[in-house]
Amino acid sequence: MNDAMSLGIHRLWKDDYVSSLKPGRKGPIRCIDLAGGTGDIALRILDHAREQYADRETTVDVVDINAEMLKEGYRRFKKTMYHNTPQVSFIESNAQALPEETFPTNTYDLYTIAFGIRNCTSVPDVLKEAYRVLKPGGTFACLEFSKVTNPLFNMVYDQYSFSVIPIMGSILAGDRDSYQYLVESIRKFPSQPEFAEMIKDAGFSSGGMHEGKGGAWRDLWGGIASIHTGVKL
Ligand SMILES: C[S@@+](CC[C@H](N)C(=O)[O-])C[C@H]1O[C@@H](n2cnc3c(N)ncnc32)[C@H](O)[C@@H]1O
Repeated sequence: MNDAMSLGIHRLWKDDYVSSLKPGRKGPIRCIDLAGGTGDIALRILDHAREQYADRETTVDVVDINAEMLKEGYRRFKKTMYHNTPQVSFIESNAQALPEETFPTNTYDLYTIAFGIRNCTSVPDVLKEAYRVLKPGGTFACLEFSKVTNPLFNMVYDQYSFSVIPIMGSILAGDRDSYQYLVESIRKFPSQPEFAEMIKDAGFSSGGMHEGKGGAWRDLWGGIASIHTGVKL
């Protein structure tokens, strides 16, 4: 679905997202990637740490509510050097209620969630859990479809989203409804400033690598997607 919505650009956004977080720069870290079933983000984190900083100890716990998605991620990792190493693990769980026994408080240095929080029924609960499992000083980073800020570009984007995407979904996947839902869920998700406020309300400081004029986020492609970050105080 990400491919249809972004015409494959989501791969570039994911590269940008992970490299801007610089995993491994200050030495090995513990990461948790929520809604991470495809393994896309985990693989980028481990590759970045290894290739940029010769770090072979950074770890990623890939967590997803959907066992089938986790299986898909596991299958992909089987073809990589990280398979059967302590650097990656796959855990089925709900981002909104991470069990304390499996995910103790103050555990992780980096919490990532890419194109996942929009699918969760309670964003505040996800943020609360993210805050809990991060160590003080740890970073929350979310990549998500967002709001286009330029009105003219927004008209074109709306046209593409509401006319082209459901048709593509129907032709490519025989599933118009899911693609229609995708477009609508993007429109319903909070705007960049609203989401930044929610992150702040969860206790995060707006400090972080993407802090710009408007707050702790960075727009990608005029706001089609954005990266929000926060630091646990
Ligand atoms: C569009 S996929 C994104 C996967 C991956 N992060 C990526 O960018 O390729 C959304 C994922 O969110 C997962 N998901 C939805 N609700 C969730 C929840 N409450 N907790 C954990 N994962 C969830 C789905 O199972 C799915 O794997």
